[in-house]
Amino acid sequence: MKILVTGGAGYLGSHTVCQLLNDGYDVSVIDNFSNSKAESLNRVKKITSKKIDLHEGDLCDIAFINQLLSKKKISSVIHFAGLKSIEKSFRDPVSYYENNFIATLNLVNAMIHNNIKNFIFSSSATIYGNNKTVPFKEENKFGMSLNPYASTKIMIEQFLMDLCANKNFKAISLRYFNPIGAHSSGLIGEDSLEAPSNLMPIISDVAIGKNKYLTIFGNDYKTRDGTCLRDYFHVMDLADGHLNALKKLESLNGSSIYEAYNLGSGEPKSVIEIIEAFSAITEKVINYKFGPKRNGDSPEVWADITKAKKELMWEPKRSLQDMMIDGWNWKKNNPMGYK
Ligand code: WQD
Repeated sequence: MKILVTGGAGYLGSHTVCQLLNDGYDVSVIDNFSNSKAESLNRVKKITSKKIDLHEGDLCDIAFINQLLSKKKISSVIHFAGLKSIEKSFRDPVSYYENNFIATLNLVNAMIHNNIKNFIFSSSATIYGNNKTVPFKEENKFGMSLNPYASTKIMIEQFLMDLCANKNFKAISLRYFNPIGAHSSGLIGEDSLEAPSNLMPIISDVAIGKNKYLTIFGNDYKTRDGTCLRDYFHVMDLADGHLNALKKLESLNGSSIYEAYNLGSGEPKSVIEIIEAFSAITEKVINYKFGPKRNGDSPEVWADITKAKKELMWEPKRSLQDMMIDGWNWKKNNPMGYK
């Protein structure tokens, strides 16, 4: 039986495909390469010496999905594909609802028609919205959405809850906090087609001289050093979390479940602390200036990971130092990404 990974050529998808193959699964990948490169999967094949059944296509194309699901013996689907830029979601909400919500609806519909019942959804810490009480726990209510990107993630989780309550379908939403780092080989890593807006890729670009300095968005938050706290964890731990979630779904013979789990370290770090951790490992000085706060940023976003520890038998194994070592190993060996 095969696992279908949508968005499998992306940063999170490629690392998860790598771990699935290493664990002995057969993997099919759908990707439209709108924000990824097929080279990432060539590298995964090199790391694992395994084959990948790759299909270029779009989840907005219902015929394409049905044709693929009816042809392949898929047992479970891990769904990464989607648009993820918060800033762009304000400018183009229609594309975000189309590519995130409608595409997921198409995919799940096609799964039901092909009697595929195991689904893992790539959700996000942003569903906690304007909640102030950290660490965030899964039983916290959805916060008031801070942006259209978060709204699509909340809507998809709500759809899955309603579906699993009324249909024979098993779904797990994994709520990612801030995945960073790369596979220790240095062959795969983060390389979006869009200009990076996330902290780590921007710090790495300063370290290789592509950016002159980092602008830190705000230094007067009510935190230990005035900069925002976030929950950074290793992308390989994120990948392992998907394997544990998959095995949980496979072990459940019952008709239907819906569960959501936080994936993070549970150990918040500030922007300054991340810069210091990066410089300590790379011996690179990261020049920075303080700028105005970024719209939509909360002072503290970090996870309570008790539920994933207990029910997925998952916890992060890699340290902040590992994140920096592996992330820098990727960047210094691939300064232009997969080009
Ligand atoms: C981290 C911290 C910034 C850049 C994450 C994901 C994002 C989304 C939501 C995932 C913040 C500060 C950043 C810079 C800075 N989707 N920063 N200068 O905001 O936690 O968003 O969750 O589901 O993809 O990344 O992550 O990396 O953008 O920012 O000071 O140039 O770094 O203010 O405090 P964030 P981030």
